[in-house]
Amino acid sequence: MINFGKITGAKAQGNKVFVSFEKKEAIIEVICDSIINVFVPFDTKEHNSKAIDGNKAKKTEFTFSFSGNAVTLSTETVTAKIYKDLKIDFYTASGEIICRDYRGKMQTLVRMSEADAALMAKEGHRIQRAEFDKKINVVKRLERGEVLYGLGDKAGFMDKRGYEYVMWNTDTTAHHDEQMPSLYKSIPFYISKKKNGKKYGIFFDNTHKSVFNMGKDSPDYLWYGADGGNLDYYFIYGTTLADIVTSYTYLTGRAPLPQRWTLGYHQSRWGYVDEADVNYISSSMRENKIPCDAIHLDIDYMDNYKIFTWDKNRYKNPKKTVDNLRKNGFKVINIVDPGIKVEKDYDIYEEGLKKGFFATDSNGLPYVNAVWPGDSLFPDFGSPDVREWWGENLRFYSDMGTAGIWNDMNEPANFRGELPEDVVFTDENRKTNHAEMHNVYGHNMSRATYEGIKKHTGKRPFVITRACYAGSQKYATAWTGDNRSVWAHLRALIPQLCSLGMCGMPIVGTDIGGFMQDTTPELLLRWVEAAVFSPLFRNHCNKGSRYQEPWRFGKETLDIYRKFVELRYAFIPYLYDLLFEEEKTGLPVMRPLALHYENDTRAERCNNQFLVGKSLMCAPVIEQGALDRSVYLPKGEWYDVNTGKKIKGGKSIVANAPIDTLPLYAKAGAVLPNYEPMQYIGEKPLDTLILRVFKGEGTYTHYQDNGEDFAYRDGGYNKYEFTVSGNSLRGRLTHEGYDRKYKKIIVVCDGKSTTVKNTQDFEVKL
Ligand code: GLC
Repeated sequence: MINFGKITGAKAQGNKVFVSFEKKEAIIEVICDSIINVFVPFDTKEHNSKAIDGNKAKKTEFTFSFSGNAVTLSTETVTAKIYKDLKIDFYTASGEIICRDYRGKMQTLVRMSEADAALMAKEGHRIQRAEFDKKINVVKRLERGEVLYGLGDKAGFMDKRGYEYVMWNTDTTAHHDEQMPSLYKSIPFYISKKKNGKKYGIFFDNTHKSVFNMGKDSPDYLWYGADGGNLDYYFIYGTTLADIVTSYTYLTGRAPLPQRWTLGYHQSRWGYVDEADVNYISSSMRENKIPCDAIHLDIDYMDNYKIFTWDKNRYKNPKKTVDNLRKNGFKVINIVDPGIKVEKDYDIYEEGLKKGFFATDSNGLPYVNAVWPGDSLFPDFGSPDVREWWGENLRFYSDMGTAGIWNDMNEPANFRGELPEDVVFTDENRKTNHAEMHNVYGHNMSRATYEGIKKHTGKRPFVITRACYAGSQKYATAWTGDNRSVWAHLRALIPQLCSLGMCGMPIVGTDIGGFMQDTTPELLLRWVEAAVFSPLFRNHCNKGSRYQEPWRFGKETLDIYRKFVELRYAFIPYLYDLLFEEEKTGLPVMRPLALHYENDTRAERCNNQFLVGKSLMCAPVIEQGALDRSVYLPKGEWYDVNTGKKIKGGKSIVANAPIDTLPLYAKAGAVLPNYEPMQYIGEKPLDTLILRVFKGEGTYTHYQDNGEDFAYRDGGYNKYEFTVSGNSLRGRLTHEGYDRKYKKIIVVCDGKSTTVKNTQDFEVKL
């Protein structure tokens, strides 16, 4: 443990209070009324955040005093009291405890007697022991009934309490489950909700390998320990969980609104190996009338897995293939891995080498490991010059007319074991090592990709990444990596995507049907049902696994699959509106029940249903063989979207859910915008909006724009406000900035539909 000693003095300067201890100085910075940063420089004098852009501190009134044994700092909403050894307690303005540092003894989880342990060690077994002494340690007290959310993509439950996770981006083919300490992303942020309703979040802005022991070893504390870096954390107070997510995304940034077509259906497989394969997929999509916007090309499109190449034997004229697909309404997404093949005369390799753009070993020689192309080098994406160079090279894809980049293997994954800690990388303008840059390798690669594509196309870049750090949402959407075709992974989708959403990553998805192993028709259908509202909606699977395109299992499966892809297309305007709002609030699309029903103990640890926005409840069947399921409807009035039946909430009901049914519930007063059926975005003008209205009291905001570029940021959109009250729906255009207005709005309520022609100002009797 770091020993700070007693406080010897304190002084305020601007937003900061410098607290001196016998052994070290800590800087407590007021970012705004509800966010306090605690910073102790160990590695670098200043913050060296890779997640936070610029200075987020707002001019905030605060008071501070030093009493001799404690420093007290108060904003309008939070008081921080700092004691010896940098123990900090946070209180509300009225003096109620929000979060206290733990001062007691740390204990090791007892797994066996000392005698047993000695015996096993002698036999050569590895003894699992809890360790509490990292370079950076923070220990927060836990209370009975406290629930802990967050930590990004960990395949655990919504409530992470009782488990231990490690932030270290990891490519693993093992079965992802709640005991898996590390997956592909490192988002060192958690949110606590206490039994008395107090809530806070902490973002540990440190990219080094770190452990989050979420009360696994003791019911009394949560331990965070990092191998290196600074002690640098943001304490975020909020009266609601939503406020905390909004504050966290204020710090780390929000996912920019994506192009509308990206919300369509994506078909992928490793691999569609050649032009004939891709043409077969695209024509089968249309023949089978499965709406589809994108086809993904996995590593087989390349010449020997060389990035920025296209195998001319498999694709005679790749540009023509891409053009033809585009004419037919398909966008092409190419996979782009970081590993650059070591091969003489391969231009990217030669150029990168000449410019010193690859990571090196401690002797300054390019560091070689193996990925798909065999021996490979690793672009040093932490360097602005490397990012610029990479971005420029991405013209290869944009000039070809492809519409998005899928960044994979960017943990970075390697076939000859992990990169040693001392491999030399750049962090902006200084040299550092793999230990610090590992967790931001994918983040920086996504940034290079986002910035490059934005420059070449002027459109909203579509980047998918596997590895992330906090803040990656600014550059990329993400998927959860190599899951399996097992029911446990279908179930995991809900807490995993909702947790990513709580950690600022709203545009996420899973490989529908499962990546590894062979799916079954039933699993595939239940998966497409559960994923209907996941912003990234992609069926993808492994080479050598059973084909899992929707038509591979016969007519019945195809018809049901189609029904749900059609449902997805109907709901694209709803998802788009949610993402429009998300750019302002940071609130995700897929939301855990707790986000809107915070004081409902039945909602707080729910892992098997989720909200889409605030007014739609989705309760997919996630058990093999089930034909119905229990659904918890929090207090309030709900409507069964499938039957129109009104249901009083505050209880569980049994939903009838045969294989072709997804239980869906709308809150009374909800307005859910839909499109008319289509095969892809852009097939026809989006001149008609359908409003599914559920009687009650409510308001809804809808946005209409070109769906492609950044004009919306300069007001280039139309905004409609809809108000449901009693038996009427009022609609008004309240902001005008896009010249294509709806020619008609069809209002559907209680099985009755009314067509409105004056879409800018209307009232409909429901
Ligand atoms: C990785 C990816 C997977 C991809 C495969 C081949 O396993 O996670 O999605 O298909 O590599 O590129």
